Amino acid sequence: MNAEELRSLYIRFFTSHGHTQIEGKSLIPENDPTVLFTTAGMHPLVPYLLGEEHPAGKRLVDYQKCIRTGDIDSVGDASHLTFFEMLGNWSLGDYFKEGAIEMSFEFLTSPQWLGIPLEKIGVTVFEGEGAIPRDDESAAAWKRLGVPEDRIRYRPRADNWWGPAGVTGPCGPDSEMFIDMGKDPCGPDCGPGCSCGKWLEIWNDVFMQYNKNAAGEYIPLARTCVDTGMGIERTVTILNGKKSVYDTEIFTPLIEAVEKASGSVYGTDGDRDRSIRIICDHVRSAVFILGDPKAVSPSNVGAGYVLRRLVRRAVRHGRKLGMAGPLSSVAAAVIKKFAGPYPELAAQRDFIITELDQEEEKFLETLQKGEHEFEKLLPNLLKDPRKIISGRLAFKLYDTYGFPLELTEELAAEQGMTVNRAEFDEAFKKHQELSRAGSEQVFKGGLGDQGEMATKYHTATHLLHKALRMVLGDHVAQKGSNITAERMRFDFSHGAPMSADELARVEAIVNEQIQRDLPVTMAVMSLDEAKEAGAIALFGEKYESQVRVYTMGDFSKEVCGGPHVEHTGVLGNFKIQKEQSSSAGVRRIRAVLE
Ligand code: ALA
Repeated sequence: MNAEELRSLYIRFFTSHGHTQIEGKSLIPENDPTVLFTTAGMHPLVPYLLGEEHPAGKRLVDYQKCIRTGDIDSVGDASHLTFFEMLGNWSLGDYFKEGAIEMSFEFLTSPQWLGIPLEKIGVTVFEGEGAIPRDDESAAAWKRLGVPEDRIRYRPRADNWWGPAGVTGPCGPDSEMFIDMGKDPCGPDCGPGCSCGKWLEIWNDVFMQYNKNAAGEYIPLARTCVDTGMGIERTVTILNGKKSVYDTEIFTPLIEAVEKASGSVYGTDGDRDRSIRIICDHVRSAVFILGDPKAVSPSNVGAGYVLRRLVRRAVRHGRKLGMAGPLSSVAAAVIKKFAGPYPELAAQRDFIITELDQEEEKFLETLQKGEHEFEKLLPNLLKDPRKIISGRLAFKLYDTYGFPLELTEELAAEQGMTVNRAEFDEAFKKHQELSRAGSEQVFKGGLGDQGEMATKYHTATHLLHKALRMVLGDHVAQKGSNITAERMRFDFSHGAPMSADELARVEAIVNEQIQRDLPVTMAVMSLDEAKEAGAIALFGEKYESQVRVYTMGDFSKEVCGGPHVEHTGVLGNFKIQKEQSSSAGVRRIRAVLE
């Protein structure tokens, strides 16, 4: 079973069960500045899961390209990937638990479809928590279909609840499907959901029953929905009994391209294999980001920064392997392999290759510069009798020049010195937490979270955005925002920390607009009209043909989905609590309405 067969079988199964195939969406989410990439098949469907009518109907199926970078540092092992494809089917107020489970069961076990023997299948269901009951309905449905009770396990929220932690939006219990890999059980409690490696998950049926609001309350949805997700890479790996995703046909031509460019052979050396995998994964992700209709180029902010990290890490591992050919030779293999289901890759081929080549060259220059910088610092460093280079300095080389720790360590070793790795790790972790906090906000205020305070903060965000542009200049652009009922966070492009005076001015301007009690009005127009009217549009990104423009008196005009308050006077007193770095070139403000 290869990826292509699985993809088309899945789509065919669900279309034959009344689902309409919809196009997968861009990797870079529509109109959502709070998240960098599409992270799951359901992500573009959030408004529909919350009740909006979908033009294609109540039963949908698609395959969706996704990127998750939270585990980027684990890539290189047998299973972690930054890019993956997800198959999904949805019921928007149509069938619910029983219908979803029956279809999942048929697709998995029927000889006409995947034909997995029933003895190999196990499932988990939600065990309940607080006011949310145990999911006996799902368990009963599996039992009726013939799954024996000892292979239906109840599991807690950590395992059988879907809805990203700490954010608002649709959520609910899920039921996960596992395949028995034939290994001995690890103990008497071993069963579906056990992480020992006997049971591997291939599919997840989520039963969307609640909308988690900004106050953390679970509000029952008027219309329950089903959201399922099956990762293609993982499923192909399991169905073919492979140990690693990299051993499947999905990666074979990519690995061959790296072998060819580097003269190394895959499967002969652990370290080398790891580098080869990292190059394959990262180049694949980079190609999909660059080949997206909403492509970004490598940069120091947002999605562009992730792209830069991916390319640079691949270059570094290429250097380790002694790769002579450029990364774009691997990219060519990616385009060839995936242009069937993703024709945009072939259409963007020249752009992809050019951007990769440029970034690779730039990074090689960076490496030279870092080496030069290090040499300049060296006389001073050598004065340290303990011969230790501080982790803070190593992090500065990394953060400012993009100079990797391993290379600092290498240069240090040549001088008989070491780097304080613990200190570096600490600085790195702090930085990572900050950027992760920025990138994991899956749902912005406008979609799920429409509480009163959240709405006020949303309006305050527009006032702050404009005030920052007035005080700091028009280069200021929103890079993200995160709103809870207690506070707002706003990320924006600006190269330097703000002075106390600048902060005070921004605060005063926002409060002045609140005191003026400006009316907030909304108009729907084309993007061109919006631009002509002087509206700020985020990211310069592609919007739907008709957009909403929110105007706040004579002060601010911004393209936005809403919602907003009707008069700024209700916001109260605006207070900036903190201004800090978020990532390179991006600042973060935390503020409250008192
Ligand atoms: N949204 C669910 C997942 O990503 C199906 O696992």
